[in-house]
Amino acid sequence: MIDLSTNYLGLKLANPLVPSSSPYSKDLSAAKKLEDAGASAIVMSSLFEEKIEAEEQQMARFFYQQSIGYGEADSFHPVPDTIKTYQEQYLEHLHNLKTALKIPVIASLNGTSLGGWLDYALALQQAGADALELNIYHLAANAEESGDRVENRYIEILQAIKAQVSLPITLKLSSQFSSPVHFAKRLEAAGADGIVLFNRFYQPDIDLETLQVVPKLELSSSTEALLRIRWLAVMYGRVNLSLAATGGFHQVEDVVKALLAGADVVHLCSVLLECGIDSLTKILQDLQQWLVEHEYQSISQLKGSVSQQHAIDPSAYQRANYVQVLDSYSHPSGVLM
Ligand SMILES: Cc1cc2nc3c(=O)[nH]c(=O)nc-3n(C[C@H](O)[C@H](O)[C@H](O)COP(=O)(O)O)c2cc1C
Repeated sequence: MIDLSTNYLGLKLANPLVPSSSPYSKDLSAAKKLEDAGASAIVMSSLFEEKIEAEEQQMARFFYQQSIGYGEADSFHPVPDTIKTYQEQYLEHLHNLKTALKIPVIASLNGTSLGGWLDYALALQQAGADALELNIYHLAANAEESGDRVENRYIEILQAIKAQVSLPITLKLSSQFSSPVHFAKRLEAAGADGIVLFNRFYQPDIDLETLQVVPKLELSSSTEALLRIRWLAVMYGRVNLSLAATGGFHQVEDVVKALLAGADVVHLCSVLLECGIDSLTKILQDLQQWLVEHEYQSISQLKGSVSQQHAIDPSAYQRANYVQVLDSYSHPSGVLM
């Protein structure tokens, strides 16, 4: 019998497949189906700073309008006590997920500033979250802000949350840091329990007819997994953090590579949205089969065995490989140089 279990953020999980934040986790019955399909934990869709703020401003306007003298019409307005706010709905959904599921539920907070939204971390803990994922989706496009300042923003947000909760905290990171391992070590020193590699930035597109910049959401493909695999391999053994892979994990081969590189869990999202919840069961069965065929007894035996520290040629993860890759190019036949 193969032991598929893994440890992530201090949680003992039955296997390494964890659906990441996606519309599935917003729906109780879809989340239950993911559990039945074999998911070992689930990450909730995020609670967004922007949405919290927008709602607070809306409420402030509502109270202001009432206070400036439409008193006789007050009874026609909805009574705020009976309306559930965005945050209340999120907490209620977390509570419902915790009641309906046996697997751990990881809540997700998403924002960029040191604002009031951080106060919701405690409410998430009280509502039963097993861990907290922090997604600081921040594009460093400010010419006045140094790289150090960008990193400090993450550290300050992490510390503000650590001061409130005892939950394990993981950070979903961008790949765009100048020294990712050094930064990960800073996060570890500031109390992080894990990191998720990497956030996908959605690239806006230019509409050539209207010349408008338009948002564009494209699901990932397996080629994106290689960036994550490389950095998992480099991080493994150098930081004392749980490691999760996200971005481009679609089939068993991608998942096995992430585990060989050092991931504790592999997040699935695009593949579930594209191929349905059953694809999780298929990847899990394929993983089991791969382990049998390659004579592994457990996930822990496999984990990190092709990390940079343990690879036969560690330089393959670094620049040495770059020259060989360029030299190995041969142009397709029939294409003239
Ligand atoms: C429709 C959709 C909704 C998502 N919602 C969130 C979210 O609320 N919070 C978050 O941190 N990531 C969110 N993500 C990002 C995914 O969790 C995941 O990290 C990303 O899609 C990369 O993984 P993939 O290649 O398996 O799709 C979302 C992705 C998609 C496609």
